[in-house]
Amino acid sequence: MKKAILFDLDGVLLSTDELHYAAWKSVADELGIRFDRQVNNRLRGVSRMASLEIILQHGGMTLSSEEKEAVAARKNDRYRALLMTLSPDSVAPEVRETLAALKARGLKLAVGSSSKNTKLILAQTDLGCCFDAVSDGTNISRSKPDPEVFLKAAAFLGLDPADCAVVEDAVAGIDAANAGGFLSIGIGDAADYEKADRQINSLSELLSLKSLF
Ligand code: G6P
Ligand code: MG
Repeated sequence: MKKAILFDLDGVLLSTDELHYAAWKSVADELGIRFDRQVNNRLRGVSRMASLEIILQHGGMTLSSEEKEAVAARKNDRYRALLMTLSPDSVAPEVRETLAALKARGLKLAVGSSSKNTKLILAQTDLGCCFDAVSDGTNISRSKPDPEVFLKAAAFLGLDPADCAVVEDAVAGIDAANAGGFLSIGIGDAADYEKADRQINSLSELLSLKSLF
């Protein structure tokens, strides 16, 4: 029986992982680096600057720290322009219904995301009110696979990691959840990750997951 569920944001509650992909792809194209979904999957859950390092390493390119800052800022500007197209309709009905049903069963809900754009996304989509706590890229110094973002979310709720489950689409996120002592639930790109304690194909499957209730 768990007391709370901590949700990753990009790729779990919303398809913003696709917007990250589009923004990184346009920047990588300009740098002449081939960027595809396989490389993109390695960026899930990883901070903005660490993502850029992975892309540069993939392209065999080195940049000065000033150049890296400029490229990361360009990516974020494009990403935020895409985020402006989000609205409450961008949230799948299944997501809202599942969150409401979990809440009705007495579970606390929180967001645990490495993104510094989390609060903008929650505001654009009217999702903020569904959560009892939000831990994001603005309150951590180490991004996933470090467990910090989830440990902070649990602390905001006043709960121990053992009382919480984490839902993640990132391999780095499952590693973070496991390292922090949470029950890890893989979905999407992490649905077939063998280190995930549980695997689901769709968010509503949480409602019939025995280990939660
Ligand atoms: C999430 C996404 C990553 C992204 C990171 C930082 O963890 O899965 O792909 O790089 O947030 O996002 P930000 O919006 O701060 O650039
Ligand atoms: Mg994610």
